[in-house]
Amino acid sequence: MRFFLLLFFVPLIADDSFITRFEYAKMLYENPRGVGCHYCHGLKGEGKIIAKYIEKGKKRYLKAPDIRDVEYKRFYKKLNSKKFKSAMPSYFLTRSEIKTLYYYIKMINSEDKR
Ligand code: HEC
Repeated sequence: MRFFLLLFFVPLIADDSFITRFEYAKMLYENPRGVGCHYCHGLKGEGKIIAKYIEKGKKRYLKAPDIRDVEYKRFYKKLNSKKFKSAMPSYFLTRSEIKTLYYYIKMINSEDKR
């Protein structure tokens, strides 16, 4: 029975058809069991100003960086980090979910050939 269930679910997640995998990836980017990446990094990972403030009379910005060209190793490290001293929240994602997020950012940006 367990084996049967596995056979049933695996194609849902690992389907090679473009739409299914892409849609799953988009869903994960916008709802990664926590605050969606897009709120801070933008819909395509292009980066965004997430707060404006004034410090010592000067206008300052807190920006979530552009993550479109981050290499995988760095991407993985960042998402797997359990250090709580960043403006970015910690996530508890599996290796495969992190890979999917990376794939999503690559896919969505190659599509419109910036
Ligand atoms: C609350 C805002 C916020 C959210 C939500 C957020 N981030 Fe970030 N992220 C940041 C900030 C700010 C930085 C820069 C500071 C740092 O590296 O800790 C950052 C840094 C990163 C970096 C490192 C970039 C580099 O050049 O090294 C990656 C990769 C990244 N985020 C990916 C993601 C992904 C994927 C998600 C969703 C699972 C996400 N972030 C959600 C704010 C956010």
